[in-house]
Amino acid sequence: MQADTILVTGGAGFIGSNFVLQWIANEASSVINLDKLTYAGNPANLAKVASDRRYKFLQGDICDRELVAELLLTHSPRAIVHFAAESHVDRSIHGPDDFVRTNVNGTFSLLEETRAYWSGLEGEARTAFRFLHVSTDEVYGSLGPTDPAFSESTRYAPNSPYSASKAASDHLVRAYFHTYGLPTVTTNCSNNYGPFQFPEKLIPLVILHALSGKPIPVYGDGQNVRDWLFVADHCEAIRLVLARGRVGETYNIGGHNELKNLDVVNTICSVLDELRSQHAVLPHSKLITYVTDRPGHDRRYAMDIGKIESELNWRPRETFETGIRKTIHWYLENPAWIQSVTTGSYRQWMATQYSL
Ligand code: NAD
Ligand code: TYD
Repeated sequence: MQADTILVTGGAGFIGSNFVLQWIANEASSVINLDKLTYAGNPANLAKVASDRRYKFLQGDICDRELVAELLLTHSPRAIVHFAAESHVDRSIHGPDDFVRTNVNGTFSLLEETRAYWSGLEGEARTAFRFLHVSTDEVYGSLGPTDPAFSESTRYAPNSPYSASKAASDHLVRAYFHTYGLPTVTTNCSNNYGPFQFPEKLIPLVILHALSGKPIPVYGDGQNVRDWLFVADHCEAIRLVLARGRVGETYNIGGHNELKNLDVVNTICSVLDELRSQHAVLPHSKLITYVTDRPGHDRRYAMDIGKIESELNWRPRETFETGIRKTIHWYLENPAWIQSVTTGSYRQWMATQYSL
């Protein structure tokens, strides 16, 4: 490992693995990936870099303070990019315990051990160190149809156990900057989509159900709005914030793609009608099935990304039309990956959540 190694937590998950792959492809320095490998973590996502000498994987829990302390002392990272979290709103409704444990207590443990490590650094190593915390737009709550988009100064109003746990972690990160001077930066991003996303989330779930002719579950009236961000764009934004973001600041990251769920589902169905024109069920949209709404379902998220655009000159490269095609092609080209993640525990979750 090189002197300017970074530590990534949760790098075997959806966004983390895209980030590690992009980092190894574009940067000169090494990455250590600390991941517990919950149901959402999959080392197969990182097969491409598994034997790269700049990549090292460590299975472990961010709540394990001894492990984190030793890891920091052994590898002396110049930065930590913190992705590790429980990330699915529906699971947080069924069982919030893991969300508080990992997202709140885990972030706290990581901050404490990082503070101890950083306090021991000197000179340039201390000044240049960064703790980048990856968070969500869901901490801001829900918008009405004509409300202005969330900005970095929007009041926190989380509505689900997931978003409340992420909000708590954001507050801890903020406090460690203000109280101890720990050089933190927080990013709040909108809904990501792209390769390697676990098929419990809307977009991969719709692709898989459409391909296998299963009902496509749409919650409520399908009119909830999300802003969709292609994962590679998000990873580029994080790299930029890590390199040039101002310490103690937060940056909103979004895709400029506000869409109703039903429009997202119909777009996927029509792309599949074109790519799978011999499918047994055509059009694929015949599979759309309205199901009971999620309790406390946030109506609309939208992101004002003026700050990152003007300060760091970042904007998303993908439109929804280009990003969703790339995503659908990736799922069509990776049946072995799909098979490896749709295991017994996945089927159990589908049965619990949808009675499917
Ligand atoms: P994910 O669920 O796909 O992956 C989470 C990863 O964290 C997994 O690899 C898992 O094994 C690991 N992990 C969980 N608990 C751990 C623990 N205690 N110790 C170590 N590792 C642990 O999540 P994702 O979609 O890649 O999200 C990454 C981050 O981005 C999260 O912090 C999430 O809140 C945030 N985020 C995600 C989205 C999105 O659309 N996916 C949007 C906004 C913010
Ligand atoms: P999801 O991918 O779970 O992300 P989040 O809840 O964090 O925004 O869901 C995106 C939207 O899609 C959300 O409004 C809930 C809705 N949804 C469905 O309609 N059906 C589903 O089966 C799922 C998983 C989500």
